[in-house]
Amino acid sequence: MRVITPPIKSQGIKTKLVPWIHALVPTVKGRWIEPFLGTGVVAFNSGFREAFLSDINPHPIAFYQGVKDQAIAPRGVREYLEKEGALLEKAPDRGYAHFRTIRDRFNQSHKPLDFLFLSRAGFNGMMRFNRSGAWNIPFCKKPGRFGRSYITKIVNQVHDIACLIQPAWTFTVTDFEKTILQATKDDIIYCDPPYIGRYVDYYSGWTEEDERRLFSLLSATPARFILSTWHHNDYRANPFIATHWNKFNLVTRDHFYHSGGKLENRRSVVEALVFNFPANIRKHNHEMEPKPEQMILLEKRAEYITRQVNQARE
Ligand SMILES: C[S@@+](CC[C@H](N)C(=O)[O-])C[C@H]1O[C@@H](n2cnc3c(N)ncnc32)[C@H](O)[C@@H]1O
Repeated sequence: MRVITPPIKSQGIKTKLVPWIHALVPTVKGRWIEPFLGTGVVAFNSGFREAFLSDINPHPIAFYQGVKDQAIAPRGVREYLEKEGALLEKAPDRGYAHFRTIRDRFNQSHKPLDFLFLSRAGFNGMMRFNRSGAWNIPFCKKPGRFGRSYITKIVNQVHDIACLIQPAWTFTVTDFEKTILQATKDDIIYCDPPYIGRYVDYYSGWTEEDERRLFSLLSATPARFILSTWHHNDYRANPFIATHWNKFNLVTRDHFYHSGGKLENRRSVVEALVFNFPANIRKHNHEMEPKPEQMILLEKRAEYITRQVNQARE
């Protein structure tokens, strides 16, 4: 499966797990509902015509709303990145002076293109906001960051998501509770909440109380849902699996991630998908093997995505 990657990056991005998640998605008549949208990578690869997408962080939402409204379009993104990239390259302090200018401007006016710039010029593609809600990731220290091929890559990503965002996709800034409460029996909800105690910043604080609130909402929803969470790592198990999520169906798989660029920082975690419907899958060790009928569904969605993206390129 070719995974469409969005132009916005973050440390919690689920790109590598997208095929695994989508192999589980059942056929539903209704909408794709995603209350913790983040970068949107899971929604963009869902192949749904109708979607309700929300997050408490207003910046990715404003960016994608801008793409939907065509206020943000590939040509404008190229012009913006070429201009700011050239200024970055010439700026004192090996580019840092211009990074600071954009960061301060973003913290004042919250322009979506400045948000894109910070997301793609920040250290390790991370997204973090401080206690006052200001951008809190340093420059990647590459003054030539926005070279021709990097700009083209970002512009193509904007193009691809512009082709996938449909008129019946709603983007909104809201708490997860409101989003989950409006789901109907025909919808599928995909939840990827922050992990307790990880990546804590202005928008991604997550407490045990939040996890319990999420559990109550998902237990009561008439919709089908899939929840991403962690099962265990090298040191401990996620206590909420045994006390709460085990009530539902669950599949797991190994996942490796890097915290920082060094090889010794490679950590493994066993990821879990918790869901409330019978699944067309076989559990296979930690992996998940879709049954043939589920594969057909997955292929149909992948074909739809490829068609959408290619049609507009011709
Ligand atoms: C792990 S990230 C989602 C990552 C996303 N699946 C991706 O691949 O990019 C969790 C998201 O939940 C959002 N969030 C945190 N608390 C929230 C709340 N109370 N209501 C809605 N969204 C919230 C954060 O802003 C963050 O974008």
